[in-house]
Amino acid sequence: MSSAAPHDNFTLKEEIRAYWSARAESFDLSYGHAIKSDRELRAFQRLLRDSFGAEPLDVLDLACGTGEITRALLSLKHRVTALDFSETMLERARAKHGKAARFRLGDAENLLDADDSYDALITRHLVWTLTDPEAAFTQWFRVLRPGGRLLVIDGDWVNRSRWQALVNRFGTWLRDRRGAPAHQIDADTHASITKRFYFNEGLSRQRLEDMLTAAGFTDIAPADYGQVVRAQQMTAPLHDAIRLGSSTRFALLARKRA
Ligand SMILES: C[S@@+](CC[C@H](N)C(=O)[O-])C[C@H]1O[C@@H](n2cnc3c(N)ncnc32)[C@H](O)[C@@H]1O
Repeated sequence: MSSAAPHDNFTLKEEIRAYWSARAESFDLSYGHAIKSDRELRAFQRLLRDSFGAEPLDVLDLACGTGEITRALLSLKHRVTALDFSETMLERARAKHGKAARFRLGDAENLLDADDSYDALITRHLVWTLTDPEAAFTQWFRVLRPGGRLLVIDGDWVNRSRWQALVNRFGTWLRDRRGAPAHQIDADTHASITKRFYFNEGLSRQRLEDMLTAAGFTDIAPADYGQVVRAQQMTAPLHDAIRLGSSTRFALLARKRA
């Protein structure tokens, strides 16, 4: 069977879900995942205010994981719907936020919401693993109200420049020397699924911008996620602060024309 057959694609999605479900328990322990300080929360709040404005909105947190982006949204009084296809991830998010947000078990590539349901959409670290990003972006455009905004926070988790590779090796060496835990579980599964992702050669800001444009989004511009990463680095142990600087991270803000 060809590797592009839809059946294979479905299998890959199931594998991705199982991978994240297995990581749910330790997910928040890694730096760059859970919001670990007031400084980081404030950086998130600035990013969200700059992206979506100051008024409370109907916001969809796509692939909410353990609910950390939801936490930042709720702190600004947004009305949050948080969606993830992993039951175990969603359970953790639900345990943190209870009835403060609406939780949905579902596939971010196949949304069941009516057209024009949300003022804003946000997603962190989902796009790089999508199996059908064109379908996903079309869906995201559809459920957004005219004039609404999409904020994508992601990065290139496949390629590193020589400098980034050096920084990563040093941070990892320091971590191991200190006996600090790695938290990254099942490296074999990670490598196996990453090879079959749509963006298996890495996600770039330009590629994302082109695809969002093709889906109908306009006014696409970078957003300052760097302020969140810098806040994370200030509270992280040195080895994690170093490793946080070893990948290309970016955020893009896009609009559905009013
Ligand atoms: C790296 S985690 C990011 C979690 C959260 N957005 C954050 O930044 O803390 C990726 C999440 O995407 C979810 N996910 C991956 N593909 C998905 C899909 N097609 N639909 C819904 N959730 C998905 C996984 O279950 C996992 O919770």
